[in-house]
Amino acid sequence: MIASSIIGHRGAADLAPENTLAGIRKAAKCGIRWVELDVTLLGDGTPVLCHDDRLDRCTNATGPLTNFTASDLPLLDAGSWFNPDWIDEPMPHLSDALLLCQQLGLGLNLELKPYALPGDLVARKVFEEISVYWQSPEKLIISSFDHELLGFYRYYDLFAQIGLLFEHLPEFWQLKAEALQAISIHCDWRLINAAEIALIKAAGYDLYCYTCNEPEEAARLFQQGVDALFTDNPPLISSSVETDKHAIVLDEL
Ligand code: G3P
Ligand code: MG
Repeated sequence: MIASSIIGHRGAADLAPENTLAGIRKAAKCGIRWVELDVTLLGDGTPVLCHDDRLDRCTNATGPLTNFTASDLPLLDAGSWFNPDWIDEPMPHLSDALLLCQQLGLGLNLELKPYALPGDLVARKVFEEISVYWQSPEKLIISSFDHELLGFYRYYDLFAQIGLLFEHLPEFWQLKAEALQAISIHCDWRLINAAEIALIKAAGYDLYCYTCNEPEEAARLFQQGVDALFTDNPPLISSSVETDKHAIVLDEL
């Protein structure tokens, strides 16, 4: 189980550009223990942090990720769209994000985004990087809305901690979870009710809900049994609940 009740969504998406190394550092500075990051592939199969299938929203470039390769990454600015203070913040290689999370003592929920490329390729490329760059399997959860892709990931890594992402909880959620040997269920907090929360917890799964930036709702969800919340603003949610603080002095790193 995640040792903290707060997971920084896309790093800390309200406080620093999402899915960047700066965002990971910001989350650590907030004192939380886990972050969620989105990973997808460039056209040459390089895994990078990005939520979207295009570069338009979060970089200074336009077009689908599949039009770009690793050699284009030094030219991308993934920070100034958020705030001019973050100009030239790079779009990270997955490997750099994995190393930084470990350096900062952060657990990681890595969400796989397949988009235009085949799920088995995404799973294999991500698995290859995790095999080389990640040391602590208990501090890594692999999730996706694409459950076929999670099946490919399970094929490569029999021991991975897998989380099933849903919007609405479907009728046969537990069969899906059992098929993938998942440890956690990840749901939209707006679309889950108290009975479903109780059902998931009674079945023995961890339950993590995305993306809650409302302190009063966070307090209610924890009271109903949700184990952790993804939030864009960790200090805002921390202020309303007891969390396992993990202060990190970045200057010492
Ligand atoms: O993994 C939780 C959450 O990130 C899922 O939705 O669209 O923000 O990636 P999204
Ligand atoms: Mg995500």
